[in-house]
Amino acid sequence: MDPPTRFVRSRLDRFQQELFEFLRIPSVSARSEHRADTRRAGQWVVDQMAAAGLEAELIDTDGHPIAVGEWRGAGKEAPTLLVYGHYDVQPVEPLALWTSPPFEPEVREGRIYARGTSDDKGQLFLHLKAIEALLETRGELPVNVVVLAEGEEEVGSPNLLPFVEAHRDRLACDAVVISDSQMFAPGQPSLLFSLRGLSYLEIRVRSAASDLHSGSYGGAVPNPAAVLASILASLHDDQGRVAVEGFYDSVVEWDEETRRQIRDLPFDEKGFQEGVGARGLGGEKGFSTLERLWIRPTCEVNGLLSGYTGEGAKTVLPAEAMAKVSCRLVPDQDPGEVARLIRRHVARVTPDTVEVEIQELHQGLPWRGRPDGPWFQAAREALRATFGTEPVLTGEGGSIPIVPDFERVLGAPAILLGFALPGCNMHAPDEWFPVDHLELGTLTLVDFYRRLGDMSGDE
Ligand code: BES
Ligand code: ZN
Repeated sequence: MDPPTRFVRSRLDRFQQELFEFLRIPSVSARSEHRADTRRAGQWVVDQMAAAGLEAELIDTDGHPIAVGEWRGAGKEAPTLLVYGHYDVQPVEPLALWTSPPFEPEVREGRIYARGTSDDKGQLFLHLKAIEALLETRGELPVNVVVLAEGEEEVGSPNLLPFVEAHRDRLACDAVVISDSQMFAPGQPSLLFSLRGLSYLEIRVRSAASDLHSGSYGGAVPNPAAVLASILASLHDDQGRVAVEGFYDSVVEWDEETRRQIRDLPFDEKGFQEGVGARGLGGEKGFSTLERLWIRPTCEVNGLLSGYTGEGAKTVLPAEAMAKVSCRLVPDQDPGEVARLIRRHVARVTPDTVEVEIQELHQGLPWRGRPDGPWFQAAREALRATFGTEPVLTGEGGSIPIVPDFERVLGAPAILLGFALPGCNMHAPDEWFPVDHLELGTLTLVDFYRRLGDMSGDE
């Protein structure tokens, strides 16, 4: 066994303890009451990087800080890898649905349960450990490395693009590597060719100045909950297509080669359905489940609020109704343009007896990768060597908003190799990460970094 592999294998207990420490910090970026915790998680990353031998600092932004670590010992001529991840996590509600508390990590049946295990603390941690293993056993890394961990990914990365633009020299790199996604199936590693974008809106409908008795006023005063329901119902047609005029105008049809690759994947449709516990699946007619998830845009209701929702009955005519709505986007849809189209659509279908207000929350561009080139090849070989299976190319329905910006501003390709598994409950109760992926993920990344060194030697 070579020294870095031995190093990783013999220290898995310590790694797990350290990861637990990280997971115990409730870095919920969306919540102001967790502001200090979020910062603490950023500092934890900085301390880890410094302990591993990187030059590291926590840099303030207008929101949560950014942790940056650098190792440039490979020299100016050597390639540079930018590792990106996030140390913030999603809110944990509904708390009652967690088997064990979200910030008290626990191992059950080969899985580490806690908020952030898969998304993304656990996966960011793999990179920190791979770097540590190489620096400890070889005294150097095969390439220059810059690690950038942000604390606002889960709230749309509002301060990251300005940061990247302001620090483009410092972040200059030959490739960006990100582990914040899933493998196609257990034992089946994958590399991503796409991410969807996002346009997130909040819609409020108001009618009377305050809640009213539904007997004394109902039938004469418009009901904002019912109006909102009809607005939401108008967003789709009976073919499952988004019925907002212009919504599909900039959607680029995917090439036959990619569609064939998707068709050829051994997707277990029934298992997928059972896994989510739904009675049936559905969506845009004419597309398979994987196509609906990866290469077609959507419009989803994420939340609804109106009227009386407590125990028993209350006969009330609510004054206001609110919905959170987000569209997942595919190339070349633009999040700002989509928000504009939805505003126009809502204005058209809303009766003028109520007031409607739309607020734009976060946005992110869709991404389509180029699954080729030596960096991508190195990732493919590292996954194959560690998992013993040829990786497959997959799309991803989720979003990592900074990815297209990295490629544009830094002029470097992004490589997305994730180690979470389908059903890992990202953003949901009982989020988990497989215990053995702590080892497999770290070893894959050690191997990946080493191949990058070999690669630059060949050039
Ligand atoms: N790690 C996810 C992206 C992801 C989700 C990859 C599912 C693979 C499978 C990322 O942290 C995330 O959740 N992004 C948000 C972005 C949003 C808040 C702008 C998302 O997709 O909702
Ligand atoms: Zn997430």
